[in-house]
Amino acid sequence: MKANGSSAYPSAPAGPGLNAAVERYYDTTLDLYEDLWGEHVHHGFWDAGERPGSDAERHAATDRLVRELVAFAGVPHGAHVLDVGCGIGGPALYLAGALGCSVEGVTLSAAQAARANEKAAAAGLAGRAHFHQRDALDNGYPDASFDALWAVESLMHIADRVAFFAEAMRLLRPGGVLAIATWSVRDGELTADEHRVVDQILRHQVMPSFSSLEEHERLAAAAGFTEVASADWSANVANSWEPTFAQVRELDNGRSMMRDLARDRGVDVLGFFYAGPLMLKGFETGAMTYGAVRATKPALEAAGY
Ligand SMILES: C[S@@+](CC[C@H](N)C(=O)[O-])C[C@H]1O[C@@H](n2cnc3c(N)ncnc32)[C@H](O)[C@@H]1O
Repeated sequence: MKANGSSAYPSAPAGPGLNAAVERYYDTTLDLYEDLWGEHVHHGFWDAGERPGSDAERHAATDRLVRELVAFAGVPHGAHVLDVGCGIGGPALYLAGALGCSVEGVTLSAAQAARANEKAAAAGLAGRAHFHQRDALDNGYPDASFDALWAVESLMHIADRVAFFAEAMRLLRPGGVLAIATWSVRDGELTADEHRVVDQILRHQVMPSFSSLEEHERLAAAAGFTEVASADWSANVANSWEPTFAQVRELDNGRSMMRDLARDRGVDVLGFFYAGPLMLKGFETGAMTYGAVRATKPALEAAGY
């Protein structure tokens, strides 16, 4: 079984149903993610081997992942940034605040866009960060609009990654940078057992497929990007799924809470709870990986204009 094709694991709805399913998932889990992770809907970043501690440390770890990606991709101070899959604006508000950027954020979830705009206003950043319910592949922005395109844990939800990289090339100005952090799978063949775990993660997280980090690099280069590189952060982020804080704390309460949520919001909401044990298993087997990818749109001279 191939792990590196963008259509290797077509378990979640692809095609026209995919965006609606992603929208529903994030609309119905917004408060659950915000309670657990705060304003960031992504993994934390720790030094390899470090153990996770308190809630405060967890939030520090999610903040750190944003800073690590800024440093890895070289997102410049003051850049005009498109945040693809902005969630409730956690990363974008860091870019707009500490890094002095102006940010446009797009998400499929109307509830997330509304919450992100609320948070921007509360942080006094509404002039520099705007959030919209929009498809990243049908976004309406003109060519060469942005200095940086930022995509943290959104690319796994996008079935057509060739189209994503082509759109990123279109939207960036020459010399602009692409900064990606993404769930991924290791390159090459997976065993049948590994495939089963990966398949369940895809289904419960409303993701059409995973690519390997190497495949992301190949796709970026094929789209015309230069200075393409990736970093495997699997060992840095795996703590995010430690059972002590990544799951419902009191199992009995948790079970009845899950039953109530499924009844009130639909069964898809349960994907939120399944992620922890499945991702732990995925990382343990080495089938799941996680990493950052950076790339640069060639400057005008280099592109031969
Ligand atoms: C795991 S959340 C990450 C949120 C945010 N980047 C963060 O790190 O806090 C995934 C996000 O990707 C967005 N997303 C997925 N597919 C998308 C698409 N085709 N267009 C725009 N946003 C998309 C979802 O709506 C959601 O906001």
